[in-house]
Amino acid sequence: MFSKNFVWGAATAAAQIEGGYNEGGRTLSVWDRASQYSGDYIQQHNTTFCACNHFERWKEDVALMKQIGLKAYRFSISWSRLIPSGDGEVSAQGAKFYSDLIDELLKSGIEPFITLFHWDYPQVLQDRGGWQNSQSPKWFERYATVVSQLFSDRVKFFITLNEPEVYVNDGYLYGDHAPFYKLPAEEVFKVAHNILKANALGFYAIKNHAKQSVQVGQAHCVGAKIPYTDSEQDVLAAKTALFEGGGIHFWDSYFMDAIMRGEYVANRLLSLGGGIEYNKDDMKLIQIKPDFLGFNTYTGDLIKMGDNGAPQKMPFSSNTDYTAMNWAIDSRCLYYNAKFLFERYNLPIYITENGVALSEIPNMKNEVNDDTRIEYIRSHLLSLEKAIKEGADVRGYFYWSLMDNFEWAHGYSKRFGLIRVNFDTFERTLKKSAHYYGKVIACSGENL
Ligand code: BGC
Repeated sequence: MFSKNFVWGAATAAAQIEGGYNEGGRTLSVWDRASQYSGDYIQQHNTTFCACNHFERWKEDVALMKQIGLKAYRFSISWSRLIPSGDGEVSAQGAKFYSDLIDELLKSGIEPFITLFHWDYPQVLQDRGGWQNSQSPKWFERYATVVSQLFSDRVKFFITLNEPEVYVNDGYLYGDHAPFYKLPAEEVFKVAHNILKANALGFYAIKNHAKQSVQVGQAHCVGAKIPYTDSEQDVLAAKTALFEGGGIHFWDSYFMDAIMRGEYVANRLLSLGGGIEYNKDDMKLIQIKPDFLGFNTYTGDLIKMGDNGAPQKMPFSSNTDYTAMNWAIDSRCLYYNAKFLFERYNLPIYITENGVALSEIPNMKNEVNDDTRIEYIRSHLLSLEKAIKEGADVRGYFYWSLMDNFEWAHGYSKRFGLIRVNFDTFERTLKKSAHYYGKVIACSGENL
């Protein structure tokens, strides 16, 4: 059973919806810079420049959230809108934009959850070495201080980082997200290490400057490890794969363990090829006790105990359905993540993202009858409810995403939204799933 004060929300991120990329003194983010070279990096030459034009339509968007019945909204701040030089003067216009948005949300009875860093790093700081610069944690600390000073009188929930896992792996190792680097593992380690230091400094900055009691956490990317069978052995194999890793650089528990346990799992460092040097004292700074654990989960891997006693990845059955991202749909991902992560880190949990991209065509009346999304939401919430019944302290769920938006290197080709966006006219239309989700919220999930 979902409690009466369970937080029902939807999420977005600045680079994916705002547009207005050069309005009011805002400077470029690394994704805007990549957009300028869109032919090379982003599907269909799409750009971040207009996105959903939320920068102009934010009032209408809050009205739509209210119409759906959302209780909470997770959005991110564009660092280079708020502090165009990255570490200097605060932009009055940037501050006003977010301040007005927060006021409108509160007026509409919607709790704001602010993400500080959702991948759109200021290009001006990237030009100074970005996260490879040893000053970068300080720049983030300053940014977090400003955010807290400006907004913590009204906002109680802050998320320092969104998915450092994807940001670091895709942005610095594989080179398929901004800044599109393919660095050697030792160099990527440094980036990740600086981000972890920044996370801790940001955490304390928000707390120390807060004007009321606030809750601060991170939103991690955690693809679930789903036991192939219910056997004890397979459950153990799934946990081992999630927490001990092996061979997979900065994924899974890499960041979570550093933050919440103050350690890098030995296996994971080994997977970087050995020879990693860092100051062990840094771990005392990096280890913090967040107020909650946020995780974004869309799918998972099936894991069984192999004959050699090591976890083994198994194929999905031929009946498995796949999303437009080609991610296997298996609703147990929320159940196992909530269970395993609560067991290991023992913190209140928010599902900071879960959702589905579908290939969908509106009918002649411009309606999107996205029954598959409805079933995705329903089955994933039921799976989450099962974990809650078994004791996981889950406090909220944010559907990704409120509206169709800029899906990073995929451009606008993947639609995750509860709201359809026409990217020529910016017209918004509630999909059938938005109405469904509204009903779920209205009865706290009793109709699932
Ligand atoms: C990110 C979102 C992204 C979503 C779907 C998460 O990795 O936080 O920004 O749009 O998943 O790919």
